[in-house]
Amino acid sequence: MNSQNVVIAIDGPAGAGKSTVSKLLAKMLNIRYLDTGAMYRCLAFKAIEAGLTVNDGDEASELLKGLEIQFGTGDPQPVFLNGVEVTADIRSPQVGEYASALSQFSPIRKQMVDRQKKMVADGGVVLEGRDVTTVVAPDATLKVYLTASLEERAKRRLNEFVDSGAATSFLTVRDQILQRDHRDITRDDSPLTVAEGAEVIESAGMSPLQVAEKIVSFLATR
Ligand code: DC
Repeated sequence: MNSQNVVIAIDGPAGAGKSTVSKLLAKMLNIRYLDTGAMYRCLAFKAIEAGLTVNDGDEASELLKGLEIQFGTGDPQPVFLNGVEVTADIRSPQVGEYASALSQFSPIRKQMVDRQKKMVADGGVVLEGRDVTTVVAPDATLKVYLTASLEERAKRRLNEFVDSGAATSFLTVRDQILQRDHRDITRDDSPLTVAEGAEVIESAGMSPLQVAEKIVSFLATR
């Protein structure tokens, strides 16, 4: 298996460790990392700036047409929106809420998925996000559904917020994740679900490195 051609798609609920594991995997295999959630976050960031509400799906869909989203290399991976770096700006809880709400709108999802399919067409990429195993890359070399208990995921998200300097509490984060799970699982377009053929990894008690190594071991069987 030549890792330069592989497509590894990592799906799962909020806070399951998708980003940490995906970045680590991309580094281990020396392939690209595509954070599809960052693209929804870029749109959310612009929507907030434009004064839109979370219900303004049509306006946000129009807004998206004029947005150029690019990724650099590094950790954290730099994200550029129309040429301006927004890496830290798109990580706020408010942007996360907007991204989750706006991602419910099919015209937005369609544009995002079209862009993402092009970005993975050449292979050599780890992509992560809420529909990557089911819609963006259903034919990926390896599909992984990464999950953990609500408590565990809330703990991880809280640590990420604390590290980035955002003020919040465990109960607030847990509540947000619960609401996000509900929205992601029950939405009409591309609900969060375990794709056919996906390997399910329950990551409680495992370090990111252990999860990444497990994924590499699955890859060896493809
Ligand atoms: O993974 P994240 O928290 O950065 O994603 C932000 C939101 O974007 C998430 O609530 C759902 C949405 N999203 C999506 O609908 N499809 C994706 N492939 C990635 C993210």
